[in-house]
Amino acid sequence: MRAVVIEQAGLPTSVEELLIDEPREGEVAVRMTASGVCHSDLHVRDGEWPRPGPIILGHEGAGIVDAVGPGVTTLRPGQQVVLTWYYPCLRCRNCQEGRQWICTGSRSLQHRAADGTSRARRADGSSVLAYLSIGTMAERAVVPADAAIPIPDAVAPEVAALIGCCVSTGVGAVLKTADVPAGASVVVFGLGGVGLSVVMGAVLAGATRIVAVDRVAAKLDMAAEFGATHLVQASDPDATVSAIREAAGPDGIDFAFEAIGLTSTVEQAIAVLPPGGTAVLVGMTPVGQRASFDVFPFVDGSRRIIGSNYGFAVAANDFPLYADLHLAGRLPIDRLVEATIGIDDVEDAFDRMRRGEGLRRVIRF
Ligand SMILES: NC(=O)c1ccc[n+]([C@@H]2O[C@H](COP(=O)([O-])OP(=O)(O)OC[C@H]3O[C@@H](n4cnc5c(N)ncnc54)[C@H](O)[C@@H]3O)[C@@H](O)[C@H]2O)c1
Ligand SMILES: [Zn+2]
Ligand SMILES: [Zn+2]
Repeated sequence: MRAVVIEQAGLPTSVEELLIDEPREGEVAVRMTASGVCHSDLHVRDGEWPRPGPIILGHEGAGIVDAVGPGVTTLRPGQQVVLTWYYPCLRCRNCQEGRQWICTGSRSLQHRAADGTSRARRADGSSVLAYLSIGTMAERAVVPADAAIPIPDAVAPEVAALIGCCVSTGVGAVLKTADVPAGASVVVFGLGGVGLSVVMGAVLAGATRIVAVDRVAAKLDMAAEFGATHLVQASDPDATVSAIREAAGPDGIDFAFEAIGLTSTVEQAIAVLPPGGTAVLVGMTPVGQRASFDVFPFVDGSRRIIGSNYGFAVAANDFPLYADLHLAGRLPIDRLVEATIGIDDVEDAFDRMRRGEGLRRVIRF
């Protein structure tokens, strides 16, 4: 099978021909149909997050179950599935209490099968890891059965793929993490796949004022099409904060979503909050970076900051829910897809993403 591999974090990708094993106990083989290119792949590609290698990139993907390993009773060949990049252990306290997005026993971060080995190999027999244990930028993936979530066949593959990361992350940040009520005012910093999903979620939640912020003017037009009511082109931080305050009206912003992953915009998301406001941090910085804020007014105004991993997703419930909302015409996920691309076009997609150009590019296999 062909797969997008990096030798180690920070090096360019290459497309390699690999061998992949059959699924073992508790695993399924998935013939991948689509994989999005998310900025989290780019963080790894650019060496901003240390990760082991060689590793198959990609964590936003969907496909069709091809074979099930021994003991798998929940899935059957032919089913369309979305892969979750954080499959839960179902045993730790957070899982038991329903907070699977902060499962402390998940094996996803070992980038290997549950038994610690890997299923993909080079011709010389050396193993190749799979990013977040799914490695979706490959023609085939062998994954734990709990990482493959069935969704209706009527959902197009590229839409299904995006449910696997940016949609769940952005829509979930609004509906689940922040639980935005109807009539709220929100601002969204960054209008990539994640930020535009925040806009979609805010529309769905009934937010009446949705301020969209990006440094790229074309992104603002797209946000307007998704339902943003006010547009702010980012410039220097003080000017951006003033423009957002003006757009927010007299009551100010209830929820500020940061969907870029820069300390400067994290600080702006906190700075725009009126008393009682909440900053929801969704973007991920390079590891080790720190942001700061003025403590006295933050406490005095009872403001809040919430980190939001994976939009508080409980994949088995939320992926089918987002799929159904899409099929019902209430989440226009298809409009996030700028173009479908081939497996050889990932470096080009990364270049465009570094420049903030365009929407999601999705590999079709
Ligand atoms: N919390 C999670 O679980 C989770 C999940 C997925 C992605 N992420 C993170 O979310 C972030 C966004 O991901 P994405 O795939 O949407 O990225 P993206 O690159 O597609 O979008 C980022 C957007 O931010 C804009 N931008 C960049 N610098 C800016 C600035 N200074 N001011 C205003 N706008 C600016 C870009 O023009 C672009 O439109 C990344 O950091 C990614 O790692 C987090
Ligand atoms: Zn992602
Ligand atoms: Zn757990």
